[in-house]
Formats: sequence, structure tokens, C-alpha cells
Amino acid sequence: MRLFASILTAMASSFAVCRLHMRGRVGLLKSLQKPDTFLQRSIGTDIVAAQAEAPPRDRSDEKDGYKFLHALQVERQEQAERSVLINCHSRTNEKKFLKYLSKHGDIKKYFFYESYGLYAVVEFAKREDVASLLERAVIPNVNHESMVPFKSRLLSLRNLSLVDLSNQQSGLQCHPQTTIPINEFIKRLSKEESIDQQMTSLTEAYQLTEENSRLRFLVCSLLKDIAAAYFPECTIKPFGSSVNGFGKLGCDLDMFLDLDGISGRNVKMPKSGLSLEYQMKRANSERAVTQSILSVIGECVDQFGPGCVGVQKILNARCPLVRFAHQPSGFQCDLTANNRVAMKSTELLYLYGELDPRVRSLVFTVRCWARAHGVTSSIPGAWISNFSLTVMVLFFLQKRSIPIIPTLDHLRDLAGPADKSVIEGNDCTFVSDFSKIQLKSNTETLEQLLCEFFEFYATFPFSRMSLNIRKGKEQNKPEVAPLHIQNPFETSLNVSKNVNATQLDRFVALCQESSWLLQQGETNIPRGGASMTAAWGLATLLLPSQVAGIKSRKKRKLEPASERIKGLLESLKNKNQPKTS
Ligand code: CTP
Ligand code: MG
Repeated sequence: MRLFASILTAMASSFAVCRLHMRGRVGLLKSLQKPDTFLQRSIGTDIVAAQAEAPPRDRSDEKDGYKFLHALQVERQEQAERSVLINCHSRTNEKKFLKYLSKHGDIKKYFFYESYGLYAVVEFAKREDVASLLERAVIPNVNHESMVPFKSRLLSLRNLSLVDLSNQQSGLQCHPQTTIPINEFIKRLSKEESIDQQMTSLTEAYQLTEENSRLRFLVCSLLKDIAAAYFPECTIKPFGSSVNGFGKLGCDLDMFLDLDGISGRNVKMPKSGLSLEYQMKRANSERAVTQSILSVIGECVDQFGPGCVGVQKILNARCPLVRFAHQPSGFQCDLTANNRVAMKSTELLYLYGELDPRVRSLVFTVRCWARAHGVTSSIPGAWISNFSLTVMVLFFLQKRSIPIIPTLDHLRDLAGPADKSVIEGNDCTFVSDFSKIQLKSNTETLEQLLCEFFEFYATFPFSRMSLNIRKGKEQNKPEVAPLHIQNPFETSLNVSKNVNATQLDRFVALCQESSWLLQQGETNIPRGGASMTAAWGLATLLLPSQVAGIKSRKKRKLEPASERIKGLLESLKNKNQPKTS
């Protein structure tokens, strides 16, 4: 992990922006780079909510407003350390609440949200402010025998004078942490004027918000406080879709317990003189160490972690983890340890998403389309995972006649000495200096790409070939599996090993159907006149399909137009007929 950090620092310092960055990035910009709202404490009296200038920031890791993932993570982690999470009464008086809290220090940012009650995330200017606030907090006055006196930064507001009983409506503005259901969003999509706009609008509506991103880092920070009981210098970092730029509101929170930052590691013993070293227990293997660490921390989270429920220790999985629900945030959490390769793939996905704004929009659209049709699911099973789907989109973009993104091998060839990274024997090296990446001038629109994506996978020879984003080429399958997608770093592994033939068949059938639909002129013309309510374009693709019952791909090929499509087109035609009455 130290290597990871040093590489990323090197990346940050040499970071330069390729020209396509300027085309309007929508992803993390929204979730990670909004200017902060500052609350200024006037001397001893009222609090005034004000949009203030952010203090000067160290911009060595930014260029033209773009920050590198590592820098973003460090900033969010640091904010999280200065934040508390407070369960409030639904009619809390916001002004009194802030005035009360600001006795402990300046509040830099706060927001409210609802999840099994009303919560406030409050970021103070200094860590000492949080310490002061915690010093004044009390342990609930109930039967002490049945309460574990565990102190954390998850608190409850108990002073009734802060509750505005005269006011039936709290008037507090809550930031939504979930998305509107896709069937409701379809109506909104139908009002857009082009499929490109529909895809952009879908991405903007479903991507993580700045507040949601802050909450994710805060949950990691709260968890770190628990793990710190055993490992005082540990950190817990989010990875996967929480930070790779492809996360949808409501996605799980993948966390990685990082012990590499513990001081005294990798320090050379002096050649002469006296020195001391820690005595430690040995285990049989690295895996055994990971399992025992997760086992005790999982137990601690289960027994003492406020708000952590349904804790499951899944220690025999290929990647051991502790799974639980964090009720106050509403996040489904997966805590892992020693998972540095996954951190690298997170970094790689983030890089690809940054190279061209079409990458993120296409990934988002395909992810939402897949979810709407039950191709993916939040429950583990034989379905295609979002990670596999993302790799499929990346592979498709590498395969365009003018490739939109480079292969991983090319990114490795561009890497400098500081980028070198080998984790457990796997070559995880790729370029960190974005300015070295020359993109080809592909001008395809999002609509063309979406259409071609479905066409591509409707006819892909899955039975023989494997997808390989390292080479940007399909290759003969090395093993029998319905869907074979080579893991970009652990190249002997299949990312989609879990997928069964039925699920792959459904995916292919849906690609055929969507490709066919997009080729029909009727689907692609905005319709509905003034009201603009009739589904068209992307909205049509998100409507329920008939494909669910399809048994085999062969059968599907014989009947490309399902009854649903016929019915749909019929209804579109009818809507276009001039009214006779
Ligand atoms: N990962 C991996 N190999 C896999 C599965 C996952 O390397 N076979 C890594 C990827 O970096 C992935 C992360 O673990 O992004 C988290 O996995 P998962 O939660 O399944 O995927 P997400 O990308 O987070 O997508 P989702 O929004 O569905 O959680
Ligand atoms: Mg995830």
C-alpha cells in the first residue's frame, strides 16, 4: 500500500490533463469537487450560513480543476476525520442546532439526510473541535449493565429545547441519498431532446452526489475508529464504485483495511548499535493473517459498532470479508483487508473514466439498463456483476475502429519507473502521468456508441472467446465458463466466473432486442408533442422486456422481434397518427 501511495503521489505531481478532459466531466466532479459551503461562527452570537470562498488549497495535485484519485481520497478522509454523524429529531431547529454545535468550533459544512430517521453530517474546522464536542457528550442514562460504553462519532441529539414543537414541518432541507425509481425517471428522460442528452441526464441523476461521497468516507472513518482499538495507525479506505467514478446512489460501500501505513514498517535495521523491534505472532500464511484480522474486527463491529447490524464474517471467500449494514447511512458494507489489487483496479477504472466523458456516460447507461432488466442484482448470484459489465464497456470502447480508450498494455508501456507496481506477483503497473496518454480522435456520439455496444455483444462469440482489456482483443477461452473476462491484473482469474449460461443468454437476448429497437426510426425520434410523456430513445430501452422467459440464444435468434417490441412500435405509430376528432 505504501508503494501504491508513493506511486499516486508521483502521479499527482506529474498530473496533466489531456484535451478531452475539458469536454465536461460529470462524474466525480459533482461528487468530489463542489466548492464547500462554509458556516462562519460570528463571535459568540448568531450563526450565519454563508457561501464563502474556500481557503487556498494546495493545487500541486490538481490541474485545470481535475484532481487525482489519491488526492481526492486524502481530502475526503481528512474531512471525514473532522466530521460527526448526529441522529436528530425530525423537527430539530436548524439554527439552534448549529449554534449549539458551534460552541465547540467553526462548522465548515453540514447537511441533513433521512435514513431510518433524520441525520446530520457536520464537518468541523479542526479535529480538536470534534474532541471538545465528544468530551461534552454523555453516555445514555439507562441500565448500565445492558449498554456497552463504546464512544464514537455517531451521536444522538437529546436536548428537547432544540426541537421546534411549534413547527409541524421541520423545513430542514434533506439531501437525498437514494435515486428515484427508474420507472419514474423514464418519464423525465422522455422530455430530453436527444439520446445523447438522455444518457448524460441519466448519469447526472444517478451518480454519487458530493454529500453521498462525504458520507461514505465518514462511515469508513467511523469504522476506522473501531479497528483502531487493535491497530491504532490503520486506515480504512473506500474502493470500488464508491470512488472509481462509476458508482450509482445506493451502491454498496467496499472498504479496505490498510495496515501498510503503520509506522516502523519497512524500516531498515541499523547496521550497528542497539535497536528494538516489536515481538509479533506469526501465522501460517498472509491469507490466515487477513482472516484473523477480519475475524476480530468483524466481532468488534458486531458487538460494539453503533449502527452496524447483520454482521456476517465471510472469511472463506477468495477475498475474505466482513459484510454488514450500516443503518444510519443506509449503506451495505463490505470490509476487506489486504486487497491491494482491487485498489489498483479501482484506480484503473477511475483513470479510464477520466480519459473521455463518454466512458462514464456509457458505463452508467449500460449499468442502469442492466439493472432495469434484472441482468445485474444487488444479491450475489450467477448474474453479471457491475464490475464485469464495466469491463465489458471498456473492452468495447477499445475495440472501436478508432479506439476511444487505450489498452492496459499500452498504459503499462507508457509507465515511468515510479509507476512500477507488483502486487503478489501480479504486474499492476500502468502510467500515472495522464499527459503521456495520446487519445485518438474518435468522434462517435453517445447514441452511436450505445447502439454499437448492443450490436457488439448481441453477436460476440462468447462460446469461444474471452474478453481481455489488457490486450484490447478477444482471445481463445483458457477455461470452460459461459462468460470469460480476464481479470486485468490477476490475469489467471475470470472476473465473471460466477455467471451461468442462462444469465449470459438473457444478456445477449436483451442486447439483441435493444440493438433492434435502436435501429427502428420510431424509437429514436423524440415524441409526445407538448406533453412529451411517451417513452422514446433510451426510455424505451429501460421499459420492461419480454426477454425474461427466453431459454436459449438459438431460440432467440429465430424471433428477433418480440411481441413487446411489435406492440410498442404499434403504439408509437398510433401516437403519431394525426387526431381525427
Ligand atoms: N473486483 C475485482 N474482481 C472481481 C470483483 C471485484 O477486482 N471479480 C474489485 C473491483 O475493483 C471492483 C471492486 O472489487 O470495483 C468492488 O467490487 P463490487 O462491489 O462487486 O463492484 P463495484 O465496482 O463496486 O460495483 P457495485 O456498484 O455493483 O458495487
Ligand atoms: Mg461495490
